[in-house]
Amino acid sequence: MKRVFSGVQPTGNIHIGNYLGALKQFVELQDENECIYCIVDMHSITLPQEPKELKKHILDVAALYMAVGLDPKKSTIFVQSQVPGHAQLSWVLTCSSYTGELSRMTQFKDKSKGKESAPAGIFTYPVLMAADILLYDTDIVPVGNDQKQHIELCRDLAIRINNRFDKKVFVVPDGRFMKSGARIMALDDPSAKMSKSAPNPKSRISLLDEPGAIKKAIMSATTDSEGTIRFDLEEKPGISNLLNIYSAFSGLAVEDIEKKYEGCGYGAFKKDLVEVTVDALAPIRERFGEIRNSKELTDALKDGAEKANAISEKTMQRVYKTFGLGI
Ligand code: TYM
Repeated sequence: MKRVFSGVQPTGNIHIGNYLGALKQFVELQDENECIYCIVDMHSITLPQEPKELKKHILDVAALYMAVGLDPKKSTIFVQSQVPGHAQLSWVLTCSSYTGELSRMTQFKDKSKGKESAPAGIFTYPVLMAADILLYDTDIVPVGNDQKQHIELCRDLAIRINNRFDKKVFVVPDGRFMKSGARIMALDDPSAKMSKSAPNPKSRISLLDEPGAIKKAIMSATTDSEGTIRFDLEEKPGISNLLNIYSAFSGLAVEDIEKKYEGCGYGAFKKDLVEVTVDALAPIRERFGEIRNSKELTDALKDGAEKANAISEKTMQRVYKTFGLGI
């Protein structure tokens, strides 16, 4: 059985990019693997968060995990800050990282925008992410494309430390990426990734959006003037993005969707995509409502933190011993 680990930041507006790139894989993997899914609250304080909002978002993401189909009997679900091993291992890994490699991370470059001084948490964030993964001897990390570089850094750190001590201190993990969902673009600007924080709400579809909001966002999505439904990332990024979303929700191959809509206009295609999306999200919204304020949810998180701590403590003993820390 393989060990799977992944996480989502509790920053609100969890959208179909998060779902189709990551959460959908989480569910697929839970039957055949030992899965550990984390709500990475310590990652979200790299930027200031209003404490009450953060608390709410942590429980929102936990409820969404269960609403999309994660079963706490099969998967371990927990909140990062409840397991001290993440911060402990992060420091050890920080001391094996180089400022050069961290400053090459595209997310750091984007977020610090070349400023002379930027929050240090944004700089060391990928090391905390590596700690999340290595703490659990993870084999597989299901994520969207935007995390590829972070997974590479995690692998580099694991290999570097294994080589230094000439033994397998850490398992070297592999990323896992979806075919159609790995990179969902903003609906209003297909050159930008769909994001939780973009100011235009019509740039994304949040998992809890009502059908009316989903319809508005899709019907106003940016396309092109050619009028044919054809996958071409270079020339037709808007339609290609919508084809990816259609494919990921329906399970149909992009080529089959192209055939189905041969000779049809964008309006008809978009209208059907609204239906496909609304149908896929309705059960998630319904289940979220049932679970969000339930004891089932808090019990699952408590149980998950216990299980995660048991694994984490063992890893930290091994790591501290390897590095000669403690007495
Ligand atoms: P986060 O919270 O930004 O996103 C959660 C997951 O959603 C994926 N994703 C997307 N996939 C497709 N299209 C998009 N537009 C899109 N936007 C986001 C992300 O790739 C991610 O899989 N650093 C991570 C959280 C993290 C983590 C970890 C992940 C912390 N530690 C350890 C895996 C393992 C992040 O900020 O994801």
